[in-house]
Parts: sequence; C-alpha cells; structure tokens
Amino acid sequence: MKLKTIALAIVVAGLGLGAVSAADNPAGAAREALMKKIGGSMGALVGIAKGEKPYDEAVVKTSFATISESIKAFPDQFPAGSDAGTEASPKIWENMDDFKAKAAKLGADADAQLAQLPADQAAVGAAVGMLGKDCGDCHQSYRIKK
Ligand code: HEC
Repeated sequence: MKLKTIALAIVVAGLGLGAVSAADNPAGAAREALMKKIGGSMGALVGIAKGEKPYDEAVVKTSFATISESIKAFPDQFPAGSDAGTEASPKIWENMDDFKAKAAKLGADADAQLAQLPADQAAVGAAVGMLGKDCGDCHQSYRIKK
C-alpha cells in the first residue's frame, strides 16, 4: 500500500465513514446502502415510539416497506470475497443459510407490521422492540464492528 493510500485510510477511519468505496467493492457499498436505509427507517419509527415525532401513518407505512424491501435485497449482495474492508463477518459465507434465514425473519416481521399497521405510538414501540431483536440477532453473529 502506498503511503498516501494509508494516510487516506486513516483519515477516513477517523471520520467514522465507511471505508468501502463503490469502485473497490460494489457489493459492499450496495449492502451498506441498504442497511443505511433500514437504519434510517428504524430511526423514524423510534422517533415516533419515543414521542419525539407525532404518529404519522404514512411514515410508519413507508418505514416498514423500506425495511422489508431492503432486507429482501440484502442477502443477494454477498459475492465471495467481498468481506474485505466491510463490517461483514467471514462467518456469513460459512453459514449462508442461517444468515439468509435471519434476513428472512426480519422481512417477515416487517411484512406482518405492514399487513396490520401499528395504529398508535405504543403499537409502534412494540413493533420497534420486535424488529430490533432481529437486527441485534443478526448483527451479533455476522457484523464486525470496525
Ligand atoms: C440478516 C442479517 C442482518 C439483519 C437482520 C440486520 N442487519 Fe444491519 N448489518 C448486517 C451486516 C452484515 C452489516 C455489515 C454490512 C457490511 O459492512 O458489508 C450490517 C450493517 C448495518 C448498518 C451499518 C451500515 C453502514 O453504514 O455501513 C446499520 C445502520 C444497520 N446494519 C442497521 C440495521 C437495523 C436497524 C436492522 C434491523 C431493523 C438491521 N441492520 C438488521 C446484517 C444485518
């Protein structure tokens, strides 16, 4: 690695920005973008659950729809060897069926919320608690914090 590249990597790491660039690792960049969308949607739901934002049916619906769509596309973004420079654990490729099952669980839970939309702040809170378990369950096994 050239010195300039190393210096840049250190700066990027210091900023807390993802070190993955679309040119180096398109799959890594694609799945991080999907997870960012999921994170943003959860953030909107948490805001409502905590009462920081008013209950808004359209926001609730869009959030669960975004989570559902994004997590369904997520497992397709893991070609062999694309873990480098990302937070994806090599264990994903060793346990692909389990990894896909964890993604499918979140997809099914988000779809269940869409089928019967949480109708008030408390119901959004309950849904956030349930989906949050799915996030934690997968992250614990398959996401490496960098
Ligand atoms: C099936 C497994 C799985 C599930 C379920 C899952 N994640 Fe992730 N998540 C990952 C993996 C793997 C990464 C690291 C991806 C990478 O760096 O290539 C990640 C990364 C992230 C990131 C960081 C994205 C970035 O900027 O690099 C956020 C935010 C995130 N997840 C939020 C969530 C939330 C919120 C949920 C639940 C609603 C969730 N995830 C559910 C596997 C999962």
